[in-house]
Amino acid sequence: MLDATSSTYTYLIASRRGGEALIIDSVLEKVERYLQLLDELDLKLVKAIDTHVHADHITGLGALRDRTRCITIMGEQSAVDVVSVRVADGDSIDIEGIRLEVMYTPGHTDDSYCFLAGDRVFTGDTMFIRGTGRTDFQNGDARDQYDSIFNKLLKLPDETLVYPGHDYKGDTVSTIGEERAFNPRLQVSSVEEYVEIMDHLNLANPKMMDVAVPANLKIGLSQHEVDAKGWGLSCAEALPLVNLADAVLVDLREGAERVRNGFIPGSVHAPYPELGDNIGPGGLLHELAAATGKRLVFYCAFGERSAMAVQAAQEAGITNCCHINGGTDSWKKSGGPLEGAR
Ligand SMILES: [Fe+2]
Repeated sequence: MLDATSSTYTYLIASRRGGEALIIDSVLEKVERYLQLLDELDLKLVKAIDTHVHADHITGLGALRDRTRCITIMGEQSAVDVVSVRVADGDSIDIEGIRLEVMYTPGHTDDSYCFLAGDRVFTGDTMFIRGTGRTDFQNGDARDQYDSIFNKLLKLPDETLVYPGHDYKGDTVSTIGEERAFNPRLQVSSVEEYVEIMDHLNLANPKMMDVAVPANLKIGLSQHEVDAKGWGLSCAEALPLVNLADAVLVDLREGAERVRNGFIPGSVHAPYPELGDNIGPGGLLHELAAATGKRLVFYCAFGERSAMAVQAAQEAGITNCCHINGGTDSWKKSGGPLEGAR
């Protein structure tokens, strides 16, 4: 889908009608349109990803999360305040029937990522059709971009389809082979030659930059509402609950996050994407809470998924539940114990 104002391409991806979907680089003004399309195609939005902090439009990430309770995802280098998950090079982002391989491709910004899905790659502002993303702000670096393009993107098979984050001429898709042969910025014989080109583009700053960048850095879920209802625990308040008989800590993160960062001892693993089933009648958490009367203490990586989970669980009738503010990130900084970290 195109946002004509910023010439941004947004990609809604799913493997089947009626299944799970993810969205890449959403635009705030288009959120209603995405929701309508999701509804029309009977899709459940589970993950919303931004390739980097955008300077030319305000992201739809926060609004999509608030409307659909989807997981928000950006790279670990991003200066954004809070997202549900931060990914790194070599990670994968999975939904039903789809796997995105995560490629860290700095250069346009220091938090730029590309995502490979089998025979196609979503290149964000790292590489465009017959162009490349500017490197003159947001810690951009032409040398890094040369490396990202020549040593990562152009190593993909020639027939790989290229879906860029923008196109200012109306082109929609290219291939790696085509870009290697015909992208004018890539017809260079050295990194120095590329840097020379990028250093002399003399572009004006994007019109929206002063508004968009600050807005895009503050998209985290506002947890005041959850806190005001008494459903948020600080790490200090949560620490004594470890191994306490009348509380169950519930880890909402995915398997790979647990392997990388460890988990709170004694916690049960109930990944966020399965939350709906788990808190519904007959579900693991629903039955656990009903059978034992124990308090459910949700946690995740940064507190966003757990804040959404508390709200959903309360709505599903599990009233004895709360969550840990700031997730394992804060937990670790507070000296809380984590087990099984790689
Ligand atoms: Fe950008």
